[in-house]
Amino acid sequence: MKVLAINGSHRKGSTLLLLQEALKELEGFETEVISLCDYVLEYCKVCNACKRNGGVCVVKDGYEEIAAKMKEADAIIIGSPVYFGSITGMLKTLFDRSRTLRVNWELKDKVCAAIAVGATKHGGQEHTLQAIHAWALIHGMILVADSDPTAHFGCAAVAKQVDDRFEIDEWGLKTARSVGKRVREVLNLIKGRA
Ligand SMILES: Cc1cc2nc3c(=O)[nH]c(=O)nc-3n(C[C@H](O)[C@H](O)[C@H](O)COP(=O)(O)O)c2cc1C
Repeated sequence: MKVLAINGSHRKGSTLLLLQEALKELEGFETEVISLCDYVLEYCKVCNACKRNGGVCVVKDGYEEIAAKMKEADAIIIGSPVYFGSITGMLKTLFDRSRTLRVNWELKDKVCAAIAVGATKHGGQEHTLQAIHAWALIHGMILVADSDPTAHFGCAAVAKQVDDRFEIDEWGLKTARSVGKRVREVLNLIKGRA
């Protein structure tokens, strides 16, 4: 079974580190992390072509490759920094473009979990997690979060950049591992019933 982690940051920083922390709990599964900053992503043009042509986006950029990876995955862990209390512009752009995948419910029943990181405590991490949750639920995905230690809505972390290093709070790192563990538990349940 395959787990895809998507770094919604506009750079490779603390969100990427937290996704890598979560994936440590998924040993034995095939895992891949991608960073949206490595792709060119145009906005959804609302041409509605995907709704008429069976889910193919007419805009040709990095989206096709990301969509193919999402389709292949059994679980998707989405990570986003908090930007003004919510997800990043790049991640929202990916979510909007993923309308193509909803035409045939191609993300339905995949496991989804969320990771959010901000520069301050109470900086909007929970709202950011809920923005990811809304996307997952609208796609009919199986949303998971909580495990031990408590991560009710997913990983909520605080990171501080010191020169080119990132100092991430211990609780944030723990909740990232907790998210990875919960994804593993649910994938194992699904595998057992397949
Ligand atoms: C445009 C912008 C808006 C931000 N808004 C918030 C915010 O509302 N709350 C917060 O806690 N941090 C905010 N931050 C800080 C980032 O969430 C924080 O630095 C995060 O660790 C960056 O993740 P990255 O290292 O993966 O890029 C903002 C940063 C940027 C660039």
